[in-house]
Amino acid sequence: MKGKINISEIRSMKQLGKRITCITSYDYVTASLAEKANIDLILVGDSASMVVLGYETTIPITVEEMIIFTKAVTRGNKKSLIVGDMPFMSYQASDEDAVRNAGRFVKEGGVDAVKIEGGMRMKNRVEAMIRAGIPVMGHIGLTPQTSTLWSGYRVQGKTIDDGEVLLRDAKALEEAGVFAIVLEMITSEVAKMITDNVDIPTIGIGSGPLCDGQIVVLHDILGLYDKFSPKFIKKYANMSEIILKALESYRDDVTNGNFPGEEHTFHMTEHDSKPKIVKK
Ligand code: KIV
Repeated sequence: MKGKINISEIRSMKQLGKRITCITSYDYVTASLAEKANIDLILVGDSASMVVLGYETTIPITVEEMIIFTKAVTRGNKKSLIVGDMPFMSYQASDEDAVRNAGRFVKEGGVDAVKIEGGMRMKNRVEAMIRAGIPVMGHIGLTPQTSTLWSGYRVQGKTIDDGEVLLRDAKALEEAGVFAIVLEMITSEVAKMITDNVDIPTIGIGSGPLCDGQIVVLHDILGLYDKFSPKFIKKYANMSEIILKALESYRDDVTNGNFPGEEHTFHMTEHDSKPKIVKK
């Protein structure tokens, strides 16, 4: 990757037939690694609520918490496009809330764009945010901020009717001006139909191989979060096991007096002298 990637480059990747690589990140170190790995787009996802903060769902995380993660990511990565995920109730109540909170992501968090969940019902909201000058990414299919409250995690688009509703959602978001749409846990057939019928890139997660790009939760592919392991995840490493082994070795070394060793120890420059105990 040469310079910083921008929104029009992400959009033109679809026309050029280049697959878009996306991943979540919530901290400086992994954001820097994603830059080195030439990942196109980083989402500071509200999945941080679960994988970083340990909540059961994405509902509790706040704008303040998301902005702390976002600042760390934008400090660590100067090349990928950075998208901030707006948390539950930061944009649902009104256009004013949505614009004000999205503005915080841009001004304080330094993101290039924000993401919100929802299709047709979010059309006006998206338009208001874009009018305010903030680029928006859409997210349809399984939308965790509402699915966890209503129906749980279920594959979307299993019937023709469901597929048509999802296509209408995607079209409404495209008309509203989003620059890309996340398709989460949608059947591969419906994801392809949407991808073929919109001009903006579709970014799949659990929606098969025929989207214009793919996104995954970093902790899932690294094997760092095993409370919940979706069928669509490929594990590229087993980091929990590696970290656990390292922590156990450290514990054993300290317990047995093997750490710190001579190579980790500082000494006074005056070799013969020993600190004198000053008696009061
Ligand atoms: O918060 C998140 O990680 C997401 C992705 C699953 C797309 O929204």
